[in-house]
Amino acid sequence: MQYYSRVKHAPSKPSGKEDAHTPFGRPAERRQTICILPLPLLVYPLTMRTHLEIRATLLFLTHSTLARLPLGLLAACLLPHTAAVAEAEPGSASERATALLAQMTTDEKISQLTLSTGYGTVTGPVGLQQSLEGEIRQGECGNVFNVMSVAQVSKLQKIAVQATRLHIPLLFGYDIIHGYKTIFPICLGEAASWNPTLIEQSERVAATEGAAAGLNWTFAPMVDIARDPRWGRISEGAGEDPFLGSAIARARVHGIQGTNLAAPDTLLACVKHFAAYGAVLAGRDYNSVDMSERMLREVYLPPYHAAVDAGALSVMTAFNELNGTPATANCFLLQQVLRDEWGFTGFVVTDYTAINEMVAHGSAQDESDAARQALDAGVDMDLQGGTYGRYLKALLAAGKISQAQIDTAARRILEVKFKLGLFDNPFLRCDEQREKQVLYAPENLAAAYRMACESCVLLKNQDQTLPLKTGANIAVIGPLADSKRDLLGSWKGEGDWNFVETVLGAIRRNNTNGAVTYARGCDIDSTNRAGFAAAVTAAQNADVVVLVLGESCDMSGEARSRTGINLPGVQTELLREIKQTGKPVVLVLMNGRPLALEEESRLADALLEAWFPGTEGGRATADLLFGRQNPSGKLPVTFPRNVGQVPIFYAAKNTGRPLDPARPKEDYKSSYLDCPNDPLYPFGFGLSYTTFDYSEVHLDGTTLRPGGTMTATVTVTNTGVFDGAEVVQLYLRQLVGSVTRPVRELKGFQKIELQPGECRAVTFSIGEPELRFLRADMTEGSEAGKFQVFIGPNSRDTHAAAFERLE
Ligand code: NOJ
Repeated sequence: MQYYSRVKHAPSKPSGKEDAHTPFGRPAERRQTICILPLPLLVYPLTMRTHLEIRATLLFLTHSTLARLPLGLLAACLLPHTAAVAEAEPGSASERATALLAQMTTDEKISQLTLSTGYGTVTGPVGLQQSLEGEIRQGECGNVFNVMSVAQVSKLQKIAVQATRLHIPLLFGYDIIHGYKTIFPICLGEAASWNPTLIEQSERVAATEGAAAGLNWTFAPMVDIARDPRWGRISEGAGEDPFLGSAIARARVHGIQGTNLAAPDTLLACVKHFAAYGAVLAGRDYNSVDMSERMLREVYLPPYHAAVDAGALSVMTAFNELNGTPATANCFLLQQVLRDEWGFTGFVVTDYTAINEMVAHGSAQDESDAARQALDAGVDMDLQGGTYGRYLKALLAAGKISQAQIDTAARRILEVKFKLGLFDNPFLRCDEQREKQVLYAPENLAAAYRMACESCVLLKNQDQTLPLKTGANIAVIGPLADSKRDLLGSWKGEGDWNFVETVLGAIRRNNTNGAVTYARGCDIDSTNRAGFAAAVTAAQNADVVVLVLGESCDMSGEARSRTGINLPGVQTELLREIKQTGKPVVLVLMNGRPLALEEESRLADALLEAWFPGTEGGRATADLLFGRQNPSGKLPVTFPRNVGQVPIFYAAKNTGRPLDPARPKEDYKSSYLDCPNDPLYPFGFGLSYTTFDYSEVHLDGTTLRPGGTMTATVTVTNTGVFDGAEVVQLYLRQLVGSVTRPVRELKGFQKIELQPGECRAVTFSIGEPELRFLRADMTEGSEAGKFQVFIGPNSRDTHAAAFERLE
């Protein structure tokens, strides 16, 4: 059982304080220094701690020109040398960074502020970089992204630590968003598990695989709250809610960074996109954001804050402007909020060419001006824009920026490199043997399978159409039924789609004693109906139809906004035709955003939202369909009836003229002429093959004194015939406040497992942390007054109780 009300995770924040097990805080007398005599590497202090590091060191030497030395000489090079020829600086990462900084030229410092794309993959408008090796050698590039695999990383790292004057190792970043090799469900799907423990495990696997491939940095977690399904990047986040989003943000950072940032299986996390990128106008990517400070602080900032509190040591700025100032030059965000209020000590990196884009935003005269503004605001590293490399020195000479500003940015980056253990062993994560063992390890695939099972959401199951009975004659239809590529979603990392089993394949494997016929029916997004006839025939000859429809994996993600959120192409027409056969229709959906499914949900007898479920997604989906697994996912985002309701979210305000649901046609109320106010599926919604009964809410008092705590309890009973997991959700409403409050706000949830007939009392604690909000004077705190408590299986179908918070 997990309890996520008032979560306080065990501190795993790399504090930078002395720790006997961290490379930046080991007592000096326990260090041994290997003196590597003959090469420029000589000055490189390598400290030996574990056999792994020794192995990594040997591996490095094997890769280096040293490998060609006679063995005897090589052995001599590795002899422990206690005479401290180049004893590591004592003290913290920050002291070590400061000491190193004192030796650096301005050019060397600026190179640390530079991050350039490599030759592995393209994630932005600037193409692959062919001159990277030269840039590193010339000391013009201090960090690299989109280069992966031990072979590639070692090659470039070797240039940095051998061929540059101070041998400073590079950071290697990559977008490991929902898995590196073993691909997990898209993040929105993972959020539907409402299982932060499982999400932390999925990040642990992703980080372990990424680190095994030589990487030391991931551009994750993406924690942007999103309430507009037109925005394609809604697929990358945790949905609409700051409480759920914060719990997941914490879990992701803990999973990525582990408990020791300098371990060979951890990565540096990068919280993105700071800030409010999910609120781009009209859901169009890269568009502007204009919102009140109240909305920003109450809804959008909490997950970034949670991630920073969890110890994330890098933050990526967003592409968007916020209230007239691009996030990348936004002193309010980067100085006041991030550094002053939250105490962030890591470094800030831009998104892809975000500094250059300030010229197009119309907030900078030219790129040089943009670079100055970004540095002024507190941006430490330029991702792919090259502006710091091109302009900072001239800006310094012209007195437009100060040496101290450059030093501060460089120190922050170096400090993180020390914390990552890179100065102790730049090849800590470069072990080809480990790379082979870790990628696609059976336990990684098992974690991906578990997550895929928990992320699927059963939205409808009329007449117990599901689970399917094995031995039946099943028609599997639809453009996504046999698609391998789409299963992996938009950020497929290094995932290999040849390695996946499709939904069709897994259904066939499960249904050995029955028949399975397949018809594609139509494409995902075309007007071609030529496949309809074969699909209808297959349905006519079947006992039941499994229709797998949705979006292609590249219809969501970056630069993938849509104005329509219906099923693309003629897929709904295909569903209509199949329905005409009178056969039970199970609709399995794969998509990266909430879709408008009014008609589809009416036509389908059962509806399973599978998102893009990842490497093990085909198997998991089939196991859910056949009842080998019981769905337990709950929507982390509201599903509207149509795009006209957008933005629609459960934590709305009441308005002065709220519509009475009992009188939906009443005039002069806040409503639509052509559509109900309520969504198709509310936030938190999801069914199971079993049923759960909720008792009334029991409060252990009716009043709450300041500083006091009360408990709210419900008894949940599994009244069905399957084992099942249920997410019990707690919502609060403050009826009157110094500013208006949402009609409901999620304040706690617990995922419990119950066997048939089993019941469990589920208790939530309610006190000051649950009641706090941003009051009229913009201070945080609670207020006296009346509150409602709601507990239930989703944000709509709840039982209520009331209490009063006293003066
Ligand atoms: C642009 C995307 O917005 C960001 O999420 C990603 O990390 C960078 N490109 C780097 O690939």
